[in-house]
Amino acid sequence: MESTYLNCLAFFGVGGAHPGGLQLTKNILSREKIGSTTKILDVGCGTGQTSAYIAKKYGCHVTALDCHTIMIEKAKKRFRSLQLPVVTCYGSAEHLPFEDESFDMILSESVTAFTDVSKSIPEYKRVLKPNGILLAIEMTLENLITEAELAQILHFYGVRQLLSEAEWRAHFQKAGFRQVLSENFKLHPDAQNMCHALDFSLSKNIDPSYFHTLHQHQYLSMIYKDRLGCRIYRCQ
Ligand SMILES: C[S@@+](CC[C@H](N)C(=O)[O-])C[C@H]1O[C@@H](n2cnc3c(N)ncnc32)[C@H](O)[C@@H]1O
Repeated sequence: MESTYLNCLAFFGVGGAHPGGLQLTKNILSREKIGSTTKILDVGCGTGQTSAYIAKKYGCHVTALDCHTIMIEKAKKRFRSLQLPVVTCYGSAEHLPFEDESFDMILSESVTAFTDVSKSIPEYKRVLKPNGILLAIEMTLENLITEAELAQILHFYGVRQLLSEAEWRAHFQKAGFRQVLSENFKLHPDAQNMCHALDFSLSKNIDPSYFHTLHQHQYLSMIYKDRLGCRIYRCQ
């Protein structure tokens, strides 16, 4: 398997693999109305840390979807060991395997940036109920970068595009979200370091090249910290 950033996260089994980690997730969710009948989709669930938190805390219906087989296996293992009734689903954000108007809320925690946003965002809107809420924590270009820097970031993270706040907003609005709120989230420089994450589900025999990938992520986070930010988008 190629030493990509996402494969690296999958082999190390990094839980809370988004800026701000579980603490930010808890803060964002605490502002929302979530009851036992709320239906939530955690798109790009990774190893399922957020889905497990929501299922346990709110006792609501949680569906966890990811397109990476290692991630989804690790998420299933987590839900089994915690005896949580989270529905797991292998699938892609661009073609969600759900009926129209299935969910009250979708969480995308550092996921949509990796997708084809011209397909994934309209899919979110399709499977959300009218008035449903999309909460997305996404990499956002905050300042100008050179073509060479852009190419470096796109190549390393394997993302198709690097969007500014205005571009994200335009995609959300084009998909039919009428209200788009965005909030800048400043990370403490230390928090960029994934070694500070406490939730790992390691695969056996991790190729040494993945340690280099991890270091490269930390290096890029540091050098681009003032230009490559992270925003929380709340779309309805
Ligand atoms: C940076 S990780 C974040 C994982 C998780 N949301 C978290 O915060 O721990 C990105 C996740 O998105 C998944 N992903 C990327 N592109 C996807 C797509 N097109 N459809 C579904 N999942 C996708 C990856 O497999 C990975 O698990």
